[in-house]
Amino acid sequence: MPNTESSKIIVALDFPSEIAANTFVEKIDPAWCRVKIGKELFTAAGPHFVRSLVNRGFDVFLDLKYHDIPNTAAAACCAAADLGVWMLNVHALGGRRMLEAASNALAKLDTPPLLIAVTVLTSMSSQDLIEIGLAGDPGATVLRLAQLSADSGLDGVVCSAQEAERLRSQHGDQFRLVCPGIRPAGSASDDQCRIVSPAVAMISGASDLVIGRPITRADDPIAVLKGIESEISDIFSAR
Ligand code: C5P
Repeated sequence: MPNTESSKIIVALDFPSEIAANTFVEKIDPAWCRVKIGKELFTAAGPHFVRSLVNRGFDVFLDLKYHDIPNTAAAACCAAADLGVWMLNVHALGGRRMLEAASNALAKLDTPPLLIAVTVLTSMSSQDLIEIGLAGDPGATVLRLAQLSADSGLDGVVCSAQEAERLRSQHGDQFRLVCPGIRPAGSASDDQCRIVSPAVAMISGASDLVIGRPITRADDPIAVLKGIESEISDIFSAR
């Protein structure tokens, strides 16, 4: 297994409690993957659990998708950075002033975490977007919000791997494309609609793969992690 610096896998810790999360985390090693804490686990287990994962050596992506007035969003980002997280996110729909406030506030820190944006939630249909005033091609909205995020100094965006190729060509190699909806061959799609394999996501330009249930619900999570790592490394060694 690679060390964390080169691991492309972020395991989504979508658990209802600290006890449930710990039962899983005890099976994995910070050298093998990064981890993501979202709203469910953060609300149940709190900042102390984030700190405990950081202290155990995990790179933590805090997926709380801040969306508020610029001052509040920037302050929340700084509070998250204070927990020692590796990456955090905001909603691009918060607009340029909020994005810039968050980015500028983090830039003042000695070791700022990566800051990425959610563009359009992949759960939203064209009809949902029309209802909130975002008529037009959803793909064009994603590209526009990704451009706004880049212009505002953010490090990247969360996106479907199906959008990664266009975003990679629009933003170049340094822009981080963090892709959920990944399913290794043989995994159930669960509630994900547009699934992509780890290999195809990497070929499309993904920087990081967010993978939850195929790993967290596996009988042997380490075997699944190893399988994904070897699928990814086969791609790069074949190049
Ligand atoms: O279990 P699964 O691999 O589907 O988990 C994917 C993770 O990525 C979940 O934590 C989910 O909330 C998150 N996510 C997503 N789609 C997005 C943004 C985040 O699936 N557009």
